[in-house]
Parts: sequence; structure tokens; C-alpha cells
Amino acid sequence: MQEVPAENYMPDQIQHAANPFYKGYFKSEELLGMGFKSVGENVKIAKNCTLVGLDKISLGNNIQIDENVFIAANSGPLSIGDYVHIGGGCHLNCAGGITLSDFSGLSQGVRIYSVTDDYTGFSLTNATVPKKFKNVKIASVFLGKHVLIGSGCVILPGVQIGIGSSVGALSLVNISLKEWGVYIGVPAKRIKARSQKLLELEQTLLLEAKMSKEYSLTTL
Ligand SMILES: CC(C)(COP(=O)(O)OP(=O)(O)OC[C@H]1O[C@@H](n2cnc3c(N)ncnc32)[C@H](O)[C@@H]1OP(=O)(O)O)[C@@H](O)C(=O)NCCC(=O)NCCS
Repeated sequence: MQEVPAENYMPDQIQHAANPFYKGYFKSEELLGMGFKSVGENVKIAKNCTLVGLDKISLGNNIQIDENVFIAANSGPLSIGDYVHIGGGCHLNCAGGITLSDFSGLSQGVRIYSVTDDYTGFSLTNATVPKKFKNVKIASVFLGKHVLIGSGCVILPGVQIGIGSSVGALSLVNISLKEWGVYIGVPAKRIKARSQKLLELEQTLLLEAKMSKEYSLTTL
């Protein structure tokens, strides 16, 4: 193995441009012409994501969607608020509608289903079978403000997660969760309250963002 000498290290931006594995992100300016329902400011979507049903996807401000995310919104809407992060490898099936509120986040590999097959055996299943032979459950999924979902979680149709709750890695969320709790497990259960300190930080962040926007307008 040959080590790269330290003097050959390149700054991140040049390194990314020279790296064939790194596809980079589409930014708001490019996304605006792609047919989304709405696109806010400072939105970044990794170029190797797959998004279907762009006309049903609303994007707020300050959003980052990382590599290899799959979003199927062709038969249902997806609404993403402000300051939302979707980690790499997430899967969102939006047939029944999915809402990710402001400051919510999905860690890597989270799967959210707003539609699912019937697993009881009383109907046929899977995507190749005509609808009349199936008994799919379709119900919207709602994540409140500041909800944080840990790596590898699965969220099933009809789940509403109250403001400020977090869910530990590898959990299964099959029923709605109340606000300001930390939940873990299969199925997810509340283990303790989650601090509301982050609400003060939200106020500071929003104030600073507003001031810096006003400053940049006055210096135009
Ligand atoms: C849920 C979580 C936040 C709890 O962290 P914490 O508040 O520090 O709590 P602790 O580590 O003390 O865990 C409390 C108990 O829950 C268990 N536990 C923690 N996380 C768990 C999880 N994801 N699933 C099942 N049990 C879990 C611990 O083993 C411990 O059990 P014990 O009381 O029998 O010893 C954390 O474990 C977690 O899952 N974080 C998600 C991290 C992640 O996905 N990051 C991705 C990048 S952002």
C-alpha cells in the first residue's frame, strides 16, 4: 500500500471535483426548474438520489437530502418544512402522504411507509399484483417539529410523532408517539422525557438567520 504524502492533500472542493465517486448536490437554483411543487432557499439534494412524483413534493428552506435517498411521491404528497435533514439511504413511500415538520431529521437508512401490504394472508400482496386482489393500508405519516429518527428505524402507516420526540436507532414505530419523549425498541416505547432546551436554540438560530438576511439585503 502506498501512502499519499501530506503535501498532496487537496482542499475539499478540489478533491470532490476530482473524485469520480462523488456526484455532489443539486442546489435550489437548479431544483427550481425541475417541476417540484415548491422549492425554498438553500435546498441541497444529492445527485444520486431517486425522487419520483416531483409535482407532489414541497420543499421548505434549508433542507439537505443526502446520497441514495429514494422518495416515491407519485401517488401521494411529501411536505418538508424548514431546516430538515434526510440522511443517506432513507426510503420514503408517500402514497398516503408524509409530512416532515421544521427541524426534523432522519438518520441514515430510515424507512417511512405511508402504505403497506396486508400481511395476514387474507389478500394477495406485492407491487406486481392488481389492486383489486390486494388490501393495502394507506394512512398519512406526520413527524412534528424537532422530531429526530435514529439510524435504521422503520415507521409504519398512520403514525403521528408529536413535537420534540426522538426515536433510538433500529426502532419500529407502529403506533403514534406523544410529544417530547425519547423512544426505543421494537415496537418503540417511551423511556424518558426529552429536554426542551432546543427550543431556546431554535429561537436564537432563527433570530440570527433573520438578522443576517436583513444585513445582506441592506448591503446589496
Ligand atoms: C435512544 C438513544 C438516544 C438513547 O441514548 P441515551 O439517552 O444516552 O440512553 P442510554 O444509552 O443510557 O440507554 C438507555 C437504555 O436503553 C437502551 N438503548 C439505547 N438505545 C437503544 C436502541 N436504539 N434500541 C434499544 N435499546 C436501546 C440501552 O441499552 C439502555 O438500556 P439499559 O438501561 O438496560 O442499560 C441512543 O441509544 C440512540 O439510539 N441514538 C440514536 C443514534 C443514531 O441513530 N445516530 C445516527 C446519526 S445522528
